[in-house]
Amino acid sequence: MPTDDMKRILVTGAVGQIGSELTMELRKKYGNDNVIATGHKTKPSSRLLDSGPFEFIDITKKETVERIVKKYDVDTIYNMAAILSAVGEEKPMLCWNVNINGLYNILEIAREYEMTRVFIPSSIAVFGPNTPKENTPQDTVLKPTTMYGLTKVAGELLGDYYFRRFNLDVRGIRYPGIISSETPPGGGTTDYAVEMFYEAIRKKKYVCFVKKDTVLPMMYMPDCIKATIDLMEADISKLQHHCDFNIASMSFSAEELADEIKKHIPDFRCEYKPDFRQAIADSWPRSIDDSAARKEWGWEPRYDLSSMTKDMLGKLRKRHEMGEI
Ligand code: SER
Repeated sequence: MPTDDMKRILVTGAVGQIGSELTMELRKKYGNDNVIATGHKTKPSSRLLDSGPFEFIDITKKETVERIVKKYDVDTIYNMAAILSAVGEEKPMLCWNVNINGLYNILEIAREYEMTRVFIPSSIAVFGPNTPKENTPQDTVLKPTTMYGLTKVAGELLGDYYFRRFNLDVRGIRYPGIISSETPPGGGTTDYAVEMFYEAIRKKKYVCFVKKDTVLPMMYMPDCIKATIDLMEADISKLQHHCDFNIASMSFSAEELADEIKKHIPDFRCEYKPDFRQAIADSWPRSIDDSAARKEWGWEPRYDLSSMTKDMLGKLRKRHEMGEI
C-alpha cells in the first residue's frame, strides 16, 4: 500500500485553518510521534502541542526546514503554509515570497532528501475572469488577477515540473472555500462564509463583505481533510493529473447561506457591505467540474449545505457555551 512508505510526516502551516485539523487526523492515522507539526509565529493550540512534536520554522528560510527534516528523518511533507488571497492583495511581495520561494524550498528539500511524497495545496483562485464560471473544467484558462492566484498557478506548474523532471511524487488539490469550526481562516476571500457562522452564534448578526448574490464553491472541513488524505494515498498509476485537481462539493450565495442559518437561528440578521474582496470573489468560478478527481482517485464529498450548517452550528454552539469563542 502507498501509505506504508509515508512514515515521518512534516506539516507546515500546522497552526492554520486546514493544517491544524489535518495534523490531528494524520496523527490519528499514522501515530502522534510520526507527524511533526510546524508553524511560523502563531502560538499553537494545546491540542496540537500536547498530541505530538511541534517546531517553529520559516519556509522562506530553507535551513530552518532542513534542520527539522534531518532531526525527525522526514519522508513526506504537507506544505500547508501560505498567504491567502485578501492578505496577498495587501502584501503582494510577502505572498510571492511565501507561496513561491517558500514552496520552492520545500520542493528542493524533498528532492534532495529523496522524499516519498509532497502535498501542495492549490485553489479555485487559479482561475480568473476569462475562465468559464459555471462547472469550471479541469483543464481550462488559468489567468488569475490576484497575486495569490498567480502564485498558485505557478505552484501547480512547479509541482508538476518536479514530478516530470525529478520523479518527485508531488500532488495537489484546488481547494474551494473551506468552512470549519476549529481554527478560523486568516486573510482569505471566502472567510465570510466561516465568519457568518461564528457571528450567528455569538451575536445573531453579521455584516458580510461580499454582495448577497455572490456565489462561490465551498466545502466543509471533514470533506477537505478526506480529499487531502485520499489523494495522498491514491495509487499513482491511476493519476493523470498531479498538482491541479479540481474538487467540488457545494456552491451557494451568501444569502442562501444566511437563509440556511436562519432555519436554525430564526432571528439571525445579515447585512451586506462589499469591500475590496468583492472583486476577488467576482473573478472566481461559481461551480466546479470535479470529474477528473472522481475518476482518478474516487473523490466524493459527504456534506451538502444543509448537513454542514447543522454540524457547524452544533459544534460552534458547544464551543460558545464553553467560553472558547
Ligand atoms: N479560501 C481561499 C481564499 O479565500 C481561496 O483558496 O483566499
